[in-house]
Amino acid sequence: MCGIFGMIGKSNVVPNVLGGIEGLEYRGYDSAGIGYIEKNKVKVIKQVGEIKNLKTEVGRVNPVSFNCVAHTRWATHGKPNKTNAHPFVSTNKDFCLVHNGIIENYAELKKQLNCKFLSETDSEVILKLIEKYYCENMLETLVKVSKLLKGSYALAIISSKEPDKLFVSKMVSPCVVGISADGTKVCSDINGIGKVDYSYVLENNNFAVLTVDGIKIYNEKLEQVKLKKIKVEKSDINNKGKFDYFMQKEIYEIPNSVNNTVNLYQTFEQFEKVLPKTIVKKTKNIIIVGCGTAYHAGLMGRKIFEQNLNINIKNELASEFIYSKFVPPKNTLMIFVSQSGETADTLKALKIAKQYGLKTIAITNVKNSSISFIADYCFYTLAGAEVAVASTKAYVSQLSMFYLLASYFKEVIMDKIGLVESTANNLKNISKQINLTKFNILANNVANDIYLSQSLYMIGRNFDYVTALESSLKLKEISYIHSEAYASGELKHGTISLIDNNTFVFAFLTEKDLLEKSLSNVNEVISRGGKVILLTQYNLKSDNVYKLIKLNNIDEFYMPIVVIVIMQLIAFHVSVLKKLNPDKPRSLAKSVTVE
Ligand code: G6P
Repeated sequence: MCGIFGMIGKSNVVPNVLGGIEGLEYRGYDSAGIGYIEKNKVKVIKQVGEIKNLKTEVGRVNPVSFNCVAHTRWATHGKPNKTNAHPFVSTNKDFCLVHNGIIENYAELKKQLNCKFLSETDSEVILKLIEKYYCENMLETLVKVSKLLKGSYALAIISSKEPDKLFVSKMVSPCVVGISADGTKVCSDINGIGKVDYSYVLENNNFAVLTVDGIKIYNEKLEQVKLKKIKVEKSDINNKGKFDYFMQKEIYEIPNSVNNTVNLYQTFEQFEKVLPKTIVKKTKNIIIVGCGTAYHAGLMGRKIFEQNLNINIKNELASEFIYSKFVPPKNTLMIFVSQSGETADTLKALKIAKQYGLKTIAITNVKNSSISFIADYCFYTLAGAEVAVASTKAYVSQLSMFYLLASYFKEVIMDKIGLVESTANNLKNISKQINLTKFNILANNVANDIYLSQSLYMIGRNFDYVTALESSLKLKEISYIHSEAYASGELKHGTISLIDNNTFVFAFLTEKDLLEKSLSNVNEVISRGGKVILLTQYNLKSDNVYKLIKLNNIDEFYMPIVVIVIMQLIAFHVSVLKKLNPDKPRSLAKSVTVE
């Protein structure tokens, strides 16, 4: 949530900084702004809406600056207007600040400060504190001020009093600093820092001072600290390629994402290097935790594991687990799924698991993300940078990871050789069944049927129920159509009363053993006039259904990987037909770094 970017360089850095926040726009796009030092004075330009609006205004003003910070906002405190947009400038015009995170005690601090606030934000309070406590040394001031703050923050600050420095501090919210030939940079996302020779991922209570040719990092005692240098891999975060939208591009990348993930973990030995056999053997319970789409990947993960193994498995929403009084037993292994590796609720749940002394696994898409440092064992999905807010290729890669991980468990526990390899081969074959050209035509066709709906339903049993949940979330996120996913058998216990002859119902029937029961549920819907769009690979009588989507007859165990791609494409086309931007749905952000 909220993106921050800053750079201090040898020449005008304003274009670099604008490019920097553009790459972070998926974190929020309510408003954006830059703060810069020009002729030793702090100046600011802000605009409401997407970064393109800010760029137009910057083009008009044409600032030249060697030291600049920028922000793209996802509003937490106060409306998305110009006054609440970052950066904030102090009353004396000496300091300028951008903030990602939430200051939890801002109301209390505001009361104590007893001065005039221009915005409704929590962030402005930090600036006022800096102004109050400034001791002609920003680093020392920042350390002092940080002791008063409760909550999460990544801060980037520039000052006309120390114009050759850019100051950074971090607590909880992700923050990376990096060095390039053109200068030094700060960014709220490791994937967004762009071209750097190397970077440092800051830790809690780190304070960094960036100058044109170097970075010094300190702890709260003002002692210099040495962090591990990290080589940042090239990321195509700003490149849509031949596609109009990131979401479309990312769906088309699904077969590659599956293959790349499988290539990393296609042998028993590759798994053993990450997760020792002894840990697997000791595991009696597994709890899988995540938020949003990652939670749904975990629900599917549970079904995949249960198909193979006799282990107790539970799913938990991260935001619920952190307040749960349930203390998992000692031999519980916890698996945390997060595309970004930065979701605040998931990270908090992970920290709680560690406090309980449990072993923890992370499944994440982002190298060197916070989750990868905290979990005991980390598996990477190699989906590549996912920019569109609605997760697509990352979800399918997470499912692939669960198929592989479950077969590793089975191989260890049941002493069966070759399971990981055969699962890897199966997944590679399945990825060939994702015929995007065909799926795209089909999805566009279905989207034309449903895009004017106010409300619709999706039903399925077992694996298909999870597919319904994730498909429904996708549609809601980017088309704003109300969609509810129901376990097919549960429909008759209430929700069926909402079905009339204008209601579309997607029914997923991909499991042979459940066909009869699921068909009865489909008939219950049809009897009430519902327009059923049926997805199945089986030859079913389809006289009364509105539309039949005939799936390829693949091993049904892997069907969730294929069906969701069609549903993602349907959601995408509905969004486009409604003239919305599927990459930037209202009120959402990709990386939710606040609780
Ligand atoms: C946000 C995004 C969702 C995502 C969820 C979890 O809500 O809008 O698309 O599934 O966060 O994100 P994570 O990075 O932890 O997978």
